[in-house]
Formats: sequence, C-alpha cells, structure tokens
Amino acid sequence: MSAGYPCLSEALKIWEEGIAFRLAQGTFSKEEEYRFHTRKVAEIASAIASKSGMNEEKAYIFGLLHDYGKRIDERKSGKFHGLEGYREMLKKGYPEMAGICLSHCFPRRDFDIDNYPAYSRSDMEESKKILASLEYNDYDRLIQFSDMFPEGMNVVTIEKRLSAIQKRYGLSEMEIKDISENARYLKRYFSDLCRCDVYTLIDFDCC
Ligand SMILES: [Fe+2]
Repeated sequence: MSAGYPCLSEALKIWEEGIAFRLAQGTFSKEEEYRFHTRKVAEIASAIASKSGMNEEKAYIFGLLHDYGKRIDERKSGKFHGLEGYREMLKKGYPEMAGICLSHCFPRRDFDIDNYPAYSRSDMEESKKILASLEYNDYDRLIQFSDMFPEGMNVVTIEKRLSAIQKRYGLSEMEIKDISENARYLKRYFSDLCRCDVYTLIDFDCC
C-alpha cells in the first residue's frame, strides 16, 4: 500500500532532482539558501514531531519536500510554487506529500484570493478549490509552523521572518495578519502537544 509520501531515500533523490531541475534553467542563484531552508524546516519539524508523538521521519520528509514546487522560477514562469509542487507530487503518486506542498502556503483553507495579489488569480482559484477538498491535519500545521523560522542562512524568530518575506514578496497587510495569527495559534498548539515551550526545541541563530 502506498504511504502517500516517499520513503526517506526516495525523498532525498526527489529533493536533489528538484534542485537539478531548477539549476538546469539557469535561474537558481540561491541554491545554498534553498538547501539550508528545506533542511532546517525538516529538522525543526522532526524535532517537534518526536516530542509530540508524531512520526519523526514523516515530518522530516514533509519538511524537506514542502517547497519542491520551487523547482520552477515563480517570477519567470508566472506559476505558483505551491500548485507546481502539488501537481508534481500527485504525478509521482504521493497525495499526502502533494497536500503539504500546497497547504504550507495557506494558513486558512478558505483564504480570500484578493489577499494574495502576488500570484495569478487562476492559480489561487485552483488552489482554493483543491484545499476545499482537504482537511488540515497536524502534519499540515507542523510544516506551516516549521516553515516560519529559516530565513536566508539563519534560523530566526517569526517576527523577523515575517518582515523579510513581506519585503520580498510584497504581501498584503491581510496576508501578514493571517500568517501572524496562525503563528501565534500554532505556537500554542505545538507547545500544548509537546508539553513544553516549543521554542525551546528550536536552535535559533539570533533573536
Ligand atoms: Fe518553505
């Protein structure tokens, strides 16, 4: 029976394959940053998973591949990486992994499309339609949360990361508000599950 996501050795192959795909387009100036970001999300997710009774390896794999859709250059292609990752993982036969590729971008499944002006309306409409058919579970929440810390080549607080992504992607006030509220909610949620302050499980580089 398929697990809905790749095993670790397959995940590592897919991770390298995504990087090679992007490099072949000649538009991947931040390969090291991408490797750092995805590895850190994987490490943070597995540390929280092991403390909260979730599957540590599954969390690591989801963290490693959540941004697989960044194998395409969003700006050049005009495509949304969440949808790209979703489609590619479905093609590979990994529906659970596909869900993570999309869900990590949206704190709310019923998001308002107008709050995501940086992406094409048709991609946002399709994303919303897909998310309406999915239920968020603890792994969706875990990857959303773990994705909030790595910034550049550092692991930083949510506040620093938010201000950096706001500048980079030109996010709307509403989008930032959604992400901040979700961050506070998820911090409480995983602190409860882990029965400790979840921040103590994360190695911050600075604060
Ligand atoms: Fe990410």
